[in-house]
Amino acid sequence: MQIAAPGPSGRRYGDGMPPTALITGSTAGLGAAFARALAAEGHDLVVVARDAARLESAAAELRSRHGTGVEVLPADLTDRAQSRAVEDRLADPDRPVDMLVNNAGMGLKGRFWETELAEQERLLELNCMAVMRLTHAALRAMVRRGSGDVIIVSSTAGYAPGSRGPYGATKAWATGFAEAISGQVAPYGVRLSAVTPGFVHTEFHQRAGLDMSRLPEFLWLDADRVVADALRDHRAGKVVSVPGLQYKAIVTASRLVPPNLTRRVTAAFTRRVL
Ligand SMILES: NC(=O)c1ccc[n+]([C@@H]2O[C@H](COP(=O)([O-])OP(=O)(O)OC[C@H]3O[C@@H](n4cnc5c(N)ncnc54)[C@H](OP(=O)(O)O)[C@@H]3O)[C@@H](O)[C@H]2O)c1
Repeated sequence: MQIAAPGPSGRRYGDGMPPTALITGSTAGLGAAFARALAAEGHDLVVVARDAARLESAAAELRSRHGTGVEVLPADLTDRAQSRAVEDRLADPDRPVDMLVNNAGMGLKGRFWETELAEQERLLELNCMAVMRLTHAALRAMVRRGSGDVIIVSSTAGYAPGSRGPYGATKAWATGFAEAISGQVAPYGVRLSAVTPGFVHTEFHQRAGLDMSRLPEFLWLDADRVVADALRDHRAGKVVSVPGLQYKAIVTASRLVPPNLTRRVTAAFTRRVL
């Protein structure tokens, strides 16, 4: 049997079938940018978010612009039963998903003890538990097939959780999780990485009720640029991608100074800017 060249996500497919990518949180911000980039490369998509009407209209736009197949799968990933439907889709042997982008995530405003416990639970459920559950379902199928790609959208907040409260802690987990699992799956032909963006122009801060008007302009990143960097680094085999020269410099510098100093500096920055 002739083996065709690897597809955009690395799958060797000889039957003319385009590879499929499942993207969570694909109606806005970074998820929408992943959807645009992967559709433009020739992936069919499975798009996941809560707002079904918005998903349908985003899917129609992607189909008409890129001529790609787009399956709509509305789900609230903080709801175990709805998340289970996405896990089942990832595990379906008859409709393989070649790439999973764990992108959906949320932030929270306010100090830990002042926010409702239910909100803190939702934060962990979406930013950590859903990522773990979807990745588990995807990897079982990918390892069996001997190919696949998983990208986890983490954050630079994960390098300095002291500055962003529990949100930063969820992203420290997300980056650590990618580092913990990537080496385990690599021998089976599966690539897994985390991308750790800094501040990106999306709906994220508005949804969390954060006033970003005092953030210096040079710290803002563009979503399409972040996604291009994430895909390039993922395919180059980098386990952790840090988009943007300014953030590469900040992350490198933060590793050179004692953690206590990093915590004090980032906490002071957050008090002044956020
Ligand atoms: N923006 C930044 O500065 C920044 C920086 C670093 C990392 N990040 C990370 O990037 C990822 C994407 O954030 P973004 O900035 O692109 O946010 P965004 O513009 O607010 O988009 C969030 C997306 O996730 C979906 N979503 C939210 N809650 C969901 C849930 N419970 N179940 C399923 N889907 C849900 C939203 O659609 P519905 O509302 O319809 O569900 C939307 O499609 C997150 O993990 C975030 O932590 C963002």
